[in-house]
Amino acid sequence: MSAPHLNDRSTPIRLLATRRSGKARDLIAPGPSADEQRQILEAATRVPDHGKLAPWRYVVIDDRDRLADTLQRLYRAQKPDSGRIELEALATAARQAPLLIAALSVPRPDSHIPVWEQQLSMGASIMALMLAAHALGYAGNWLTGPATTLADLPAEFGYPDARLAGFIHIGTASKPLDERPRPALADIVSRFGAV
Ligand SMILES: Cc1cc2nc3c(=O)[nH]c(=O)nc-3n(C[C@H](O)[C@H](O)[C@H](O)COP(=O)(O)O)c2cc1C
Repeated sequence: MSAPHLNDRSTPIRLLATRRSGKARDLIAPGPSADEQRQILEAATRVPDHGKLAPWRYVVIDDRDRLADTLQRLYRAQKPDSGRIELEALATAARQAPLLIAALSVPRPDSHIPVWEQQLSMGASIMALMLAAHALGYAGNWLTGPATTLADLPAEFGYPDARLAGFIHIGTASKPLDERPRPALADIVSRFGAV
């Protein structure tokens, strides 16, 4: 996994400087072992979390056929005229990559910590999970797609009050990872200094 077309894992800062996602459809076996999965999920807990609320949940999808059936059933219920191609795309996505994890945002609205901050922690948690996967030499892909429109999906995972933050596909990249343009720092960073 140290080929130059993959993420550069030679040092932590090089990994951060070069990390990019794979495409779920290009992620093949081997995927993370049970111990690596534990490391990846533990990384997802080492994130800023105001109030120590742990407003994130992860569901490892072992049964892909069951997920495909579930997505199709919910999608059909929501859109009775859905076509074969849409439904097949949902099933295909459910079966991609050796490891698939659903990330669910479970903010506590009763907390004095704003929901917005709890949602930010969810994003940080997913990014830590992705970085851990990349640090272990795998590639990841954070996707939502049409599944985010399925309001009843979190309940199927056991979290009726949650919101799907994404499906995280993880596996071995079968193709060179694409680079994509990144914003120039001048466009996104400014200084608040002496006038
Ligand atoms: C919340 C969220 C949802 C996303 N959903 C999709 C998606 O459904 N389809 C897609 O092509 N990219 C989606 N992306 C974008 C990819 O995860 C990713 O940003 C892109 O492939 C390039 O990633 P990289 O900058 O890590 O290389 C999503 C990103 C985020 C943060």
